[in-house]
Amino acid sequence: MADVVSYKDLGLVNSREIFRKAVDGGYAIPAYNFNNLEQLQAIITACVETRSPVILQISKGARNYANETMLRYMATGAVQMAKEMGVEIPIVLHLDHGDSFELCQSCIESGFSSVMIDGSHLSYADNVALTRQVVDYAHAHDVTVEGELGVLAGIEDEVVAEKSTYTQPDEVEDFVKKTGVDSLAISIGTSHGAYKFKLKEGESVPPLRFDILAECQKRIPGFPIVLHGASSVLPEYVALINQYGGKMDGAVGVPEDQLRKAAASAVCKINIDSDGRLAVTAKVREYLQNNPSEFDPRKYLGAARTELIRLIKHKNETVLGSAGKA
Ligand code: 13P
Repeated sequence: MADVVSYKDLGLVNSREIFRKAVDGGYAIPAYNFNNLEQLQAIITACVETRSPVILQISKGARNYANETMLRYMATGAVQMAKEMGVEIPIVLHLDHGDSFELCQSCIESGFSSVMIDGSHLSYADNVALTRQVVDYAHAHDVTVEGELGVLAGIEDEVVAEKSTYTQPDEVEDFVKKTGVDSLAISIGTSHGAYKFKLKEGESVPPLRFDILAECQKRIPGFPIVLHGASSVLPEYVALINQYGGKMDGAVGVPEDQLRKAAASAVCKINIDSDGRLAVTAKVREYLQNNPSEFDPRKYLGAARTELIRLIKHKNETVLGSAGKA
């Protein structure tokens, strides 16, 4: 059992203050998933260089993959690296899709400053009860909590849902009141993974349900809202992957102009995982195909890292609007 540590001793912050500023300022904080060194270096470099607050996001699967103690030290290293780059940016360490009280507790005890408890697949009453239990424990440690109402379709690590269920605006006020959550993830048409929409020939991506978002905002004015499943699945990466031996036909994501519109509302956190995975895969495939005798991981992972920095800067500057807000 690892030692108990507070996020405050690691130089991290919870999400309360940065969400308030983001809602007031009409932009969204990026939440980038990571599970290895190069991804973390890229996130920190891009966010420091664009002066953007950032949420480093870890799923249960990533935690199992990277080892919880290793992750704690990586987060500490990330904070230190940002400082040494000469700009202090707010950094949150967040559990993505926590599925039990015990997991949230364990993350809080190992230095996370924010957790998500995802009870969206449970009955409403059970979701409320589980979320409340996590909030009580988290708030005693000044850790912020994200809850979820409505179900997103798609696959993300251990989170799988065939069909989406839109958030019911009539539930949000009661849920926020009863649970005491600090932010709420809602379902308005985004989905997890690289295959978000099944489009027939000539069909375009259906717009997000901004009407549901507006109804939610009306019920909980100024309350921080979160969008999961918000990768755009950039066609240039899918094309590179297919060109260099991959097979990702039919991959499609949420158009960036839709996300820009959402970021200008009470949506203050936008989750991006798949876009980073695609950038890395595209560049590793391209590098290895073009340099068949190369066997130094620094070469192909370095190429992937460079691309990831470019992608994250682009997201912060032109999609989320978080650049310059640190
Ligand atoms: P994407 O699969 O669209 O990147 O969504 C990631 C996410 O929502 C993490 O919780």
